[in-house]
Amino acid sequence: MAIRAWLLLFMAVALFSWTGHSKFIAYNTTSTIVNGKINVHLVPHTHDDVGWLKTIDQYYVGSNNSIQDACVQNVLDSLVPALLADKNRKFIYAFFQRWWDEQSEVVKSTVKKLVNSGQLELINGGMCMHDEAATHYIDMIDQTTLGHRFIKAEFNVTPRIGWQIDPFGHSAVQAYLLGAEVGFDSFFFGRIDYQDRAKRKNDKTLEVVWRGSKSLGSSSQIFAGAFPENYEPPSRFYYEVNSGTDDPIVQDNPNLFDYNVMERVNQFVAAAISQANITRTNHVMWTMGTDFQYQYARTWFRQMDKFIHYVNQDGRVNALYSTPSIYTDAKHAADEYWPLKSEDYFPYADKQNAYWTGYFTSRPALKGYVRVTSAYYLAARQLEFFRGKSKAGPNTDYLADALAIAQHHDAVSGTSKQHVADDYAKRIAIGYSEAEKVVAASLSQLTNSASKTGYNHSSIKYQQEINDLKCPLLNISYCPPSEVDLSKGKNLVIVVYNPLGWKREDVVKIPIVDENVVVKDFRGKEIESQFIPLSHVSVAIRKYHAKAYLGKLPKVTPRYWLAFSAIVPPLGFSTYTVSSAKGAAAGGGSEKESVNVSARNEDHKIQVGSGNLKLFYSKKSGQLTKYINKRSMVDESVEQSFGYYSGDDGSVDMQASGAYIFRPNLTYPIRYEKKIGPIPINDGIGKEIVTKISSSLKSNKKFYTDSNGRDFIERIRDYRKDWNLEVNQPVAGNYYPINLGIYTKDKSSELSLLVDRAVGGSSIVDGQLELMLHRRLLEDDDRGVAEALNETVCIADNCQGLTIVGKYYLRVDPLGEGAKWRRSYGQELYSPFLLAFTEQDEHNWNSHVPTFYGMSPSYALPDNVAILTLQELEGGKVLLRLAHLYEVGEDKDLSIMASVELKKVFNNKKINSIEETSLSANQKRSEMEKKRLVWKVKGSSKEPKVLRGRPIDQKNLVVELFPMEIRTFIINFYS
Ligand SMILES: *[C@@H]1O[C@H](CO)[C@@H](O)[C@H](O)[C@H]1NC(C)=O
Ligand SMILES: *[C@@H]1O[C@H](CO)[C@@H](O)[C@H](O)[C@H]1NC(C)=O
Ligand SMILES: *[C@@H]1O[C@H](CO)[C@@H](O)[C@H](O)[C@H]1NC(C)=O
Ligand SMILES: [Zn+2]
Repeated sequence: MAIRAWLLLFMAVALFSWTGHSKFIAYNTTSTIVNGKINVHLVPHTHDDVGWLKTIDQYYVGSNNSIQDACVQNVLDSLVPALLADKNRKFIYAFFQRWWDEQSEVVKSTVKKLVNSGQLELINGGMCMHDEAATHYIDMIDQTTLGHRFIKAEFNVTPRIGWQIDPFGHSAVQAYLLGAEVGFDSFFFGRIDYQDRAKRKNDKTLEVVWRGSKSLGSSSQIFAGAFPENYEPPSRFYYEVNSGTDDPIVQDNPNLFDYNVMERVNQFVAAAISQANITRTNHVMWTMGTDFQYQYARTWFRQMDKFIHYVNQDGRVNALYSTPSIYTDAKHAADEYWPLKSEDYFPYADKQNAYWTGYFTSRPALKGYVRVTSAYYLAARQLEFFRGKSKAGPNTDYLADALAIAQHHDAVSGTSKQHVADDYAKRIAIGYSEAEKVVAASLSQLTNSASKTGYNHSSIKYQQEINDLKCPLLNISYCPPSEVDLSKGKNLVIVVYNPLGWKREDVVKIPIVDENVVVKDFRGKEIESQFIPLSHVSVAIRKYHAKAYLGKLPKVTPRYWLAFSAIVPPLGFSTYTVSSAKGAAAGGGSEKESVNVSARNEDHKIQVGSGNLKLFYSKKSGQLTKYINKRSMVDESVEQSFGYYSGDDGSVDMQASGAYIFRPNLTYPIRYEKKIGPIPINDGIGKEIVTKISSSLKSNKKFYTDSNGRDFIERIRDYRKDWNLEVNQPVAGNYYPINLGIYTKDKSSELSLLVDRAVGGSSIVDGQLELMLHRRLLEDDDRGVAEALNETVCIADNCQGLTIVGKYYLRVDPLGEGAKWRRSYGQELYSPFLLAFTEQDEHNWNSHVPTFYGMSPSYALPDNVAILTLQELEGGKVLLRLAHLYEVGEDKDLSIMASVELKKVFNNKKINSIEETSLSANQKRSEMEKKRLVWKVKGSSKEPKVLRGRPIDQKNLVVELFPMEIRTFIINFYS
């Protein structure tokens, strides 16, 4: 035995001597934070866009690799064993539902262990890394809630970190609402203006405490860090397999050539010291990864293992596997005073003449589609709740998912390839048609059951199903259910649903084939209606697009818009009937008008109210010249014009205008434009169409734009609060994202515009507001998408540039009175009436469905409160989200506390228990507040007391809301 052992030992020695001193090295990766040294937090990550150059499914399975070599499945598959191989290794991941659903129970349980041990940290946690410019805050909340609740359900984890590393500029709403209010302890990002970044490096102010909301102040602040460069590792520390880069690996085998341990350690230490030189405290973060990395995870981990081992042996700095959570806790423990940041990080330029302000408007049709379906989703969930959510039948889940990923920073932003944009739209369309079935089923049931309770009439036999809602092409004046022949005694029943919490009167406008009709309300009383002839332009748009989208021309062509005013209770519906005028009693209120102004309005895409409001158009050019509001005594000369910027073609310095970047070359007026598009390009020049509203307001360079449709932020032309702006793009550098509106003011008046989708806008001249409505460009702007933004619509092989039919809304108010319109009317624009149609043969008016009240019939929400979410969750629980719509000091009557009486909101149900949660409904609000890190702020002046509603009383069930507060509840009802 002994001899044999000796022999073996001898042989082993002999073997070693043949190959020199090679031996197995157990890399020591155990290090944690060392006080008194520079700590280099290595944060392994991959940035997996849910759809950009390839579609979400292509990225996931790894197909279409000639476009981009990317397979998310490989990343996650290779990650698990790489983490298991060394318990000190860490990784962060933002979203992986597709992968998760496909895993075995064994893998799932392994991953759960990795998550519980902190080796795998789930961060951000939404369904995607949403954009921050072209997204509406309601959509941001919805997509984050969906992801956070999934993570809570599967892992019992609440993400702590906001990780918005790629979006092209960062919003105040992201910081305070989708950051602090979802319980994040910090928020990190990669892209800020190059001038801002240079100054912040110099001042060590890349990391700040960001107070995004004037109204909520320090109660919703967050620790926020901009990276010194992008979200990649420092230069020469990049280790993806087969990446084609030459970043030197750590070669530590002395028997092989190119041994370089000392050299690499020196480079590591130098990079660490240089980053520490621009960073407060002893902690620096290295983002070890980039787009679609870790397809073979061990290539990265192997190098990091070695760096940690040798750098710590060297001892000058301390390297460790880390995560943003560990990093944040270290920053917090350092007990430092942090500089204060307010407002936002828009616009973003990555170098001179490269302002990423084009994408605020890129793909206006997709942006419009997202907005319309977002509102539909909000209303559909309410109706789903009223009926009771069905597990088996159609539900709103598909639309939820489709809309969630459409918020991605390459989706609604308009910066994906065309086939990917089509994929996003297709998913929304599928979700929309599922949601439509939910709406139909709910309205059918509600109309039937409502009639059984007999609101207004005795014997009702309304058994007809409401199943024909298909009117999503109203924007091209195409609505099959309303374009029916009513001359043979049929009636068209229109159910008008109001998703807002207050009673509302608004105009319903549908195309009809025959003007010989009357409109009656649910009591059978004839109401006033108008017939507005369809313009030639509208008819042409309708024909072309019906052919393009449906493959055939509609059988009939409507001749009029039928417009009537519908009055609908809060969270309820009213029913209107359109029938042939022949059978009706004479003397009705209908009048046939060829309303000149309205007809022209429609061509101009400007809509105004009626009554005291008068708009004057120049007869010759058809353009707006004067605005009078009698009630508020405003009489302002307002001029509206169209123009375009010719996109820079990049011929001078390689920077063209493209999907991301707005770089105008020259500007031209357009004398008279009826619709936006097709944008002609036969002169070989890309164009970006704008509308300008000019007034005599002395606005002194100031204007105001919203942050994701929520807080308004003051903008000053050619100026930045955080640094001395060097102006190199006087137009593009003054563009800001707009989701709700833009306004400007002087000592006596306010001029406001509201929009129907995300757009870019500015005030380039005092008294003037400008919106970019459409873009068609012929060059790529060299930021990765590698395609010109040139959208077309084709009939067979015959393509023309995409036409956009949209609206914006204009108003002039006396100073201090504009907010009411921007906020309350703005909410109505976001949540238009939902229309459902059915036909009825009967003549008996009394047999019609009555009106439905979702809340107590005598109750309405206060004018400053909106229901953002009313949604049935699993297990019959209900998610309720209420928002105060006004900022502190914005309106003298409405910037005050509001109260909502839940007993009246849920009139027909009894609340068993109610719990206030974080904004994303994944934890109790009280627990979130308890855990919240408190940061010290440098030079912060004493702020006014921040007011928030008191915790809800389980007995009286009244919710208090102070300005800009959004409160989220999960409710259990007695069944
Ligand atoms: C591994 O490194 C840590 C600190 O980085 C050190 O405390 C520990 O002693 C090392 N272990 C070994 C076996 O060298
Ligand atoms: C640290 O910053 C200062 C001032 O910005 C600069 O002069 C110096 O060269 C930097 N040192 C290192 C090691 O980067
Ligand atoms: C700017 O526009 C002019 C006139 O159309 C054109 O000749 C020129 O090439 C354009 N320059 C760039 C850089 O796009
Ligand atoms: Zn990205």
